[in-house]
Amino acid sequence: MLIAIPNVFDAEQTKQIRAALDAADWVDGKVTAGHQSALTKRNSQIPETSPVARQVGEVILRTLGTNNLFRSAALPIKVFPPLFNRYEGGQDFGTHVDNAIRSHGATGQSIRTDLSCTLFFSDPDEYDGGELRIQDTYGEQSVKLPAGHMILYPSTSLHYVTPVTRGARVSSFFWLQSMIRSDEQRRILFDLDQSIQVLAVKDAGAAEVVKLTGIYHNLLRQWAEM
Ligand code: NI
Repeated sequence: MLIAIPNVFDAEQTKQIRAALDAADWVDGKVTAGHQSALTKRNSQIPETSPVARQVGEVILRTLGTNNLFRSAALPIKVFPPLFNRYEGGQDFGTHVDNAIRSHGATGQSIRTDLSCTLFFSDPDEYDGGELRIQDTYGEQSVKLPAGHMILYPSTSLHYVTPVTRGARVSSFFWLQSMIRSDEQRRILFDLDQSIQVLAVKDAGAAEVVKLTGIYHNLLRQWAEM
């Protein structure tokens, strides 16, 4: 299941972050690619040890920590420190699957990648191409979101980025390990939680809302891995 998280950052926050990213030192993106994906990856990245990457990464994680839609959709237990990439001048990334396990050099933290995240810092009208194409069970999905918006997709999906033929596509990308490993189970919990939220607005104290909330937590208790 693909889930868009709109407005993680507003226009002003996005502008400030973009300015900080543009001023950072960028290197060849092959540094974080696995053996196979290095062959088809053409972009630039900010090194994970860069102070800018660390500072902006912390802002992203702090902001997502208070984003209810993100938490409901991802049920994160561990989130990889965000990385940053830029595609320009025809650069692209061929079809690949993200590595199953990611270890962070500086922290030594390892996570299982259940969900892949792309948070856009360029608006779609700033560049041509650069669509994130994800092979989903319903066919191929093409994603190109406004700056400040994020897409979550299962890390099991084959995906690629089409060549950027004008302008630059700047984004943050990272992975997370979910309390709920199964995409199917996570989707059931997400749909249930979103429905309860809507019902709770109408009548928070209704016995059915209380009971459904109990069912949500009891399913989470059955399925969560900590
Ligand atoms: Ni990827």
